[in-house]
Amino acid sequence: MATKLITGGTVVSATGRGKADVLIDGETIVAVLESGSELLGTDLKNSVGQVIDATGKYVIPGGIDAHTHMQMPFGGTEASDTFETGTRAAAWGGTTTIVDFAIQRQGERVMDGLNAWHEKASGECAVDYGFHQIVGGVNKDSLQAMRSLMDEGVSSYKLFMAYPGVFYSDDAQILKAMRVGADTGMMTMMHAENGPAIDAMVEELLAQGKTTPYYHGVARAWQMEEEATHRAIMLANLTGAPLYVVHVSAKQAVEQVAAARDNGQNVFAETCPQYLYLSLEDQLGAESFEGAKWVCSTPLRSKHEHHQDHMWQSLRTNDVQMVATDHCPFCMKGQKELGVGDFSKIPNGIGSVEHRMDLMYQGVVNGKISLERWVEITSTTPARMFGMYGKKGVIAPGADADVVIYDPRGHTSIGLDKTHHMNMDHSAWEGFEIDGHVDTVLSRGRVLINENQYLGSKNHGQYIRRAPSQYLI
Ligand code: URP
Ligand code: ZN
Ligand code: ZN
Ligand code: ZN
Repeated sequence: MATKLITGGTVVSATGRGKADVLIDGETIVAVLESGSELLGTDLKNSVGQVIDATGKYVIPGGIDAHTHMQMPFGGTEASDTFETGTRAAAWGGTTTIVDFAIQRQGERVMDGLNAWHEKASGECAVDYGFHQIVGGVNKDSLQAMRSLMDEGVSSYKLFMAYPGVFYSDDAQILKAMRVGADTGMMTMMHAENGPAIDAMVEELLAQGKTTPYYHGVARAWQMEEEATHRAIMLANLTGAPLYVVHVSAKQAVEQVAAARDNGQNVFAETCPQYLYLSLEDQLGAESFEGAKWVCSTPLRSKHEHHQDHMWQSLRTNDVQMVATDHCPFCMKGQKELGVGDFSKIPNGIGSVEHRMDLMYQGVVNGKISLERWVEITSTTPARMFGMYGKKGVIAPGADADVVIYDPRGHTSIGLDKTHHMNMDHSAWEGFEIDGHVDTVLSRGRVLINENQYLGSKNHGQYIRRAPSQYLI
């Protein structure tokens, strides 16, 4: 029988918690019953195929990581996780949905990019997946093609104000794309850093012999992020396009988003675990070339400027709405080491898809966010933000049975002795200790992780056709 009952746990949602039993039929949650409820009589219990005991544990909706780059060609190499290895690692960490970025570059067609990503992912994923579309060459053809994305289940696209010559769009291109965004109802996602000014800074620093990973953070100063964030917000204001600023790290950029939100504008911010825990000095500035492990953009910020405290505070107040990883892993050997002697040649990206739920739970343990807020920023808001809510992001009748049983008395040592499952030769999180543990993970009713065992398969994950954002004013 394909029914399962998760009993005895505390079901946590974005708005509250309570002891309840979750009844699953096939791939779907069919009932959430107060513990000891009459409805849950012996007859029903006896007819259930599998009972999963969650006594003393939290029962939460599966994590949704809305920002990943599996096998992304970037920085002269390719992100080291395939859809197979990356989604398996996601499952290990309690993430049951990812939204990855399909890519169109200058001279390429948008739909060819999207189809290429379908080919990479189809039949390879352990968990469900959707796509955002990177539009890296805004022109007449790509603007026209953007109008068909919604029909493909792609309700968001990303532009870059950084990386001139790669994905960069100038202000005129951004304005034109945002017109289409406003018209179609698609979410405009923005990599907000002033790319041309950063490139000039890089040139200056290299000419001064400042070549180590630390200078990646110096070149990509917070002013570059604040300025670009402001510009993106103004262009969105003018065009009426909803705007989601990705991987926000600078407190000044958060303030720009908060001011726009206070004004009633549909502007949202995502941050990532690295900006909540790691710093320019302690990680990017590590001895010799070690800092390359933490080269990502936007960069890690200075601990002396208190960006991290501000970011946790903003997560509490909803000035920042959610946390994704920007998972873009590269090995040190043969990949990060491309930038020995020139930090600008280090491929940009950190791998965290496996650790987001744990790292954010540690925020609960440390008194930074509530248990409910943990669920909200890791699952419920990502589902609403990107048009998946109802099926995803909630434990309720009719929702996909994507469920994580999390043990607050468990413990997780991250990265030590290569205990992670991402396809990387190191971990950016080596040595992090979490006072909690992902015990059991279900995706559409199927148990993927149980008792430190992987029971999933690479063809289980299905493509999610996403609706327009359910988070807009
Ligand atoms: O360093 C980063 N963020 N790498 C991934 C590409 C991007 O800009 O998101
Ligand atoms: Zn980006
Ligand atoms: Zn990214
Ligand atoms: Zn455990």
